[in-house]
Amino acid sequence: MGKFPADFLWGGATAANQYEGAYDVDGKGLSVQDVRPKGGIPANAGDLNPLITDKPTADNLKLEGIDFYHRYKEDIALFAEMGFKVYRTSIAWSRIFPNGDETEPNEAGLKFYDDLFDELAKYNIEPLVTLSHYETPLHLARQYNGWANRDLIGFYERYVRTVFTRYKDKVNYWLTFNEINSVLHAPFMSGGIATPVEELSKQDLYQAVHHELVASALATKIGHEINPDFKIGCMVLAMPTYPMTPKPEDVLAAREFENQNYLFSDIHARGKYPAYMNRFFKENDIEIQFAPGDKELMSEHTVDFVSFSYYMSVVAAHDPESYSSGLGNVLGGLQNPYLTASEWGWQVDPIGLRLVLNAFYDRYQLPLFIVENGLGAKDVLVDGPDGPTVEDDYRIDYLKRHLQQVGEAIEDGVELWGYTTWGCIDLVSASTAQMSKRYGFIYVDRNDDGTGTLARYKKKSFDWYKEVIATNGGKLYED
Ligand code: BG6
Repeated sequence: MGKFPADFLWGGATAANQYEGAYDVDGKGLSVQDVRPKGGIPANAGDLNPLITDKPTADNLKLEGIDFYHRYKEDIALFAEMGFKVYRTSIAWSRIFPNGDETEPNEAGLKFYDDLFDELAKYNIEPLVTLSHYETPLHLARQYNGWANRDLIGFYERYVRTVFTRYKDKVNYWLTFNEINSVLHAPFMSGGIATPVEELSKQDLYQAVHHELVASALATKIGHEINPDFKIGCMVLAMPTYPMTPKPEDVLAAREFENQNYLFSDIHARGKYPAYMNRFFKENDIEIQFAPGDKELMSEHTVDFVSFSYYMSVVAAHDPESYSSGLGNVLGGLQNPYLTASEWGWQVDPIGLRLVLNAFYDRYQLPLFIVENGLGAKDVLVDGPDGPTVEDDYRIDYLKRHLQQVGEAIEDGVELWGYTTWGCIDLVSASTAQMSKRYGFIYVDRNDDGTGTLARYKKKSFDWYKEVIATNGGKLYED
């Protein structure tokens, strides 16, 4: 009991492209999400060869999302009713700079986020804002090949300067890129890189990574200049990696898999490329092109905190072909015989979360923030005493077991600022583009075929999470 600090930031997380809808309203430009086939990627298969058209995909559920754009007041009232202290969302870059390379921003887009942050302020909910969450303006992908092109740094700089300046008194917590390490596995969705995956060289891919890392350091610098009180963090997809056996070769394979993820948080937190990458770059004929000033920028503007998503752990082996693969949104790994999996094959591992928290804290001694965690499941709407609801005991069980491990990590000594569950209101899945993969405390009446009234209903987990927050975690230790 009472493991969570008194000022712990409890809340929920979303992303503009998965729930705002209104994809062409008030001057918004298209983003890479709007043209993706049904908006999804097959689990564990990297990225689809993007259809680089300028036409939104007709059956793409993300175009309408859950119409948060027009219903944000109703939804924020529900978040407030649960007692949220923090609310994570992203700014859709293409609402502010519709093509990405304009010199002047779109006022209507800026106004929408002003209104949104004002609404949150009414309830004393802190916004936690992701600057780029899988929604690069489409024009930057088609015209420049996304982050493979160094010009993106300048466009991003203009965008972040604009929003930092505009919201400097409304937003305190910022994340530069969502799951920045995912660009290695989903270059189009994550980095707006139009080159088909099979033609993309490692040289170009890691150069794109470098551009994003430089841009992230630049954003940290600019943000602190605009408001020295800003808390600016990186955001990575975290995955503890277990060796399949105690065989040293498997342990090494697990370490190498993990290093590909650590690369990103290491640079953000330590300000330089880790030594273990030298060999990888050499063996893969990669030579990162540094522009004058890149090194200094990265070393002088490290992040204030490290944030991450956590859904699953993975297993690695030196001979992976001998085992069955696991599933994940952008990263897979092998199946762990000791774990069960969600309906989408994501391995459920609460202790993995404690391990990740300890590993990051031990490595960086920086405050941490869990900005995504949750269970995607098929929910069934039933009649309840107060109207339609979902008896989602499986979700409560998942969150409870994970949060208990968060409590353990805090007891271990980890400094953790907060926890936002993913998809606190049902939204469109990033990897499968389904509505039926639901994470929320709030059910949204929309189906995979696009039908539905968009009405909102509280699930059983709504009241449960409300009590968890009200008791500052005490509820987790009842029963
Ligand atoms: C994370 C992303 O990878 O996982 C989110 O940051 C995404 O955008 C979440 O929605 C859950 O994945 P999915 O594929 O179930 O929506």
